[in-house]
Amino acid sequence: MPMPRSILDRSGVPDLDLRLVAGAWPTDLGGEIVISTSDLATAPRHAFFGDGVMARLSLQPGSHGAAEGTWAWRASVLDTPARHLRELRPDVFEATALGTTSPFGWSNAANTAPLPWGDRLFATWDAGRPVEVDPVTLGYVADVGHRDDWGSTMDAPLFPLVPSTAHPVIDPDRDCLWTVALNPMLQSVELIRWSGDGAHVDRWPVADAPIPQSMHTITQTRDWLVLADCAYRVDPNEIFDIGERTVTTFTDEPVYLIRKDEVDATTVGQPVPARSFRVGPEVMHYYAQYDDTDGITVLFEHTRNSELAMHVRADDVDAFGRPVDPALAGMYNHPMHPAEITVLQFDPETGEVRERARLWEPERFFATQLSAMDWSTEGISAPTVHHVVFTGFRPEVIVGRAVELYRDRLLPFPSEEVAPALATLDRESLKPIAEFTYGVEDYPTSPAFVPRDAGSEAAAGASRYAGSQPGGHDGYVVVPVLCDDGFRVDVFDAADVGAGPVATLAAPNGETVPFLLHAAWMPRAVAPDRSIERLRFADELAPDRLAQLPVDLATAARNVATLLA
Ligand SMILES: [Fe+2]
Repeated sequence: MPMPRSILDRSGVPDLDLRLVAGAWPTDLGGEIVISTSDLATAPRHAFFGDGVMARLSLQPGSHGAAEGTWAWRASVLDTPARHLRELRPDVFEATALGTTSPFGWSNAANTAPLPWGDRLFATWDAGRPVEVDPVTLGYVADVGHRDDWGSTMDAPLFPLVPSTAHPVIDPDRDCLWTVALNPMLQSVELIRWSGDGAHVDRWPVADAPIPQSMHTITQTRDWLVLADCAYRVDPNEIFDIGERTVTTFTDEPVYLIRKDEVDATTVGQPVPARSFRVGPEVMHYYAQYDDTDGITVLFEHTRNSELAMHVRADDVDAFGRPVDPALAGMYNHPMHPAEITVLQFDPETGEVRERARLWEPERFFATQLSAMDWSTEGISAPTVHHVVFTGFRPEVIVGRAVELYRDRLLPFPSEEVAPALATLDRESLKPIAEFTYGVEDYPTSPAFVPRDAGSEAAAGASRYAGSQPGGHDGYVVVPVLCDDGFRVDVFDAADVGAGPVATLAAPNGETVPFLLHAAWMPRAVAPDRSIERLRFADELAPDRLAQLPVDLATAARNVATLLA
C-alpha cells in the first residue's frame, strides 16, 4: 500500500523540532517556509474543506523555539472569526459539498496557499477573502476587504460566500494585491484591487468575460492581468446532495487579458475591457513572465482529466476496481493523466495564441502536483527554471466513479504505480534539466524555492526576496515528504536536484504529518505592523446583520468580535 495512510490523520499538524538525519545543512540557506493546509478534523467529507492551518518551517536551527541544533516546524489552525464561532457553537456548523456552513454563513477555510507580501503573510482559498496571518504566532489578523466590497454570490448574516481565487498576485510596481470575485450563477468575474492598507477593496466588473467553471489562479505581467477559467466545475447534484456527480470539466477554457492601465483609468465599479483567447487542455495553475517586453508568455500546468471535486468514499473502488481502503476516504481524487505543461504566448493585437514549448513525458512524469519558483521581482521578471513535483500514478486514490465519468477521455492507465518525482524544467523550452525520483511509499509535496543568500551582501542591490542570481536556478528547493515511517523535509540544490537531497530533516520520533497544500518562502517571520489600518470583525457586525441571527448566536458573534478586537 504505497499511499501513506497517515496522509489523512485527523489529529492535526503537530509541532516538531526536526533533526538533521542526512547531508549537511547549507550555511547560505535561511528564512521561513510557510505552508497552508486543511484541518482534517473539520473536513469530514472532502479533505480540501477543513478549517485553515498555517505551518512554518524555520530554516535557521535553534530559532522560533526549537532546541539548539533542531529546526522548528510549527503549525496552527487559523483562529478566524468562523473558527472561534465553531469552537463556541460546534452544534450549528455543518459540512456540505461546498465547505462548512452555519447560520452565520460560509466559513472561510483559508487553507490553500500562503501569500507573502513583504513581511506580511496571507492565507487564501477559492471561496473566501484572503486572510492575513501573523507570521510569528500563525494566528488570525484580519480578513481583506469588507464583506460588502466583494459582491457576494450568496449572502448570509455574517459570512457570505465569496467565490474567488486561491492565487491572488502582488503587483511589485503598483504595490497592490490583485484578485477576483466570481459569480458562478452569472458566470461573471470582477477584479479586486487592495492597496494593503485600509478596510476596503476596489472592484471592477470585467466586461464580456464569461467564466463557465471557476478561477483557481490569476497571474500577471508588468502591463497585463491574465485570468483563465479553471477546471473545477460545480455540479448542482453535489451541491444539493441529490445524486452522483454527472458533469465533467471542460477540455478547453477562455483566457482573458486585461491591461492594468485600463483598470487604472476606469472608475471603480465600471466595467473594464478584456481581450479574449482560448486555450486547452484544462488548467488550474499558470504563471506569466512578469517582464512582457518580448511578449506575453504564460507557463500553464495543465490538469487534463483531473477531477479534483471528487473525493474517495469508503465504499468506492479505485482505479483498478479494487475496494478502497476506508482510511483513504476523504482524499481528493488524484489525477488520471500524465503531466502536461506548456508555455503559451499571447498576442493581444491579433488574438493569436502560440505554443512555444511543451513538456510531455508520460512514462516519467504522471500528474503535475505543485511547483516552486523564484517569486522575487527579479525572479518573476526573468525566470530561468520551473521546479515541479509530480505526484505519480496513485491508483489507490483514483476513484472508480471518476474513471467511469471520464472513461471516454482517459488514456489507458499504467499497469502499476508511477513513482513521484521532482524535476527542474528549463523555463523557456520546458526540457527537464534534472530530476529526482522518489519511492512509491513517499509522498513528496508542497515544494518551495529558497534563493541563495537572500538579503545578504552577496545579493546587495536586489529586492528583498531575491538571491544573488535570481530566476530559480540558484538556491534550494525544499520538499516536505509525507511517509508513514515519519515526516521528512528534503533540501535540494536548485541547480542539481538530480543529485538528491543535500540535507534531510526528519521528525525526531517518526511522527507523521497529514497532507499539505501550497508552500511559499519568506525571508523572515516578524510580528505584523499593528499601525496598518485593517478590517475588524466588529466592523461587519451591523445591527441589521446581527438581527438576522437568533439571539444566542448574535451574542456569540459579539463575544468573538470582542475577543478579536
Ligand atoms: Fe493552487
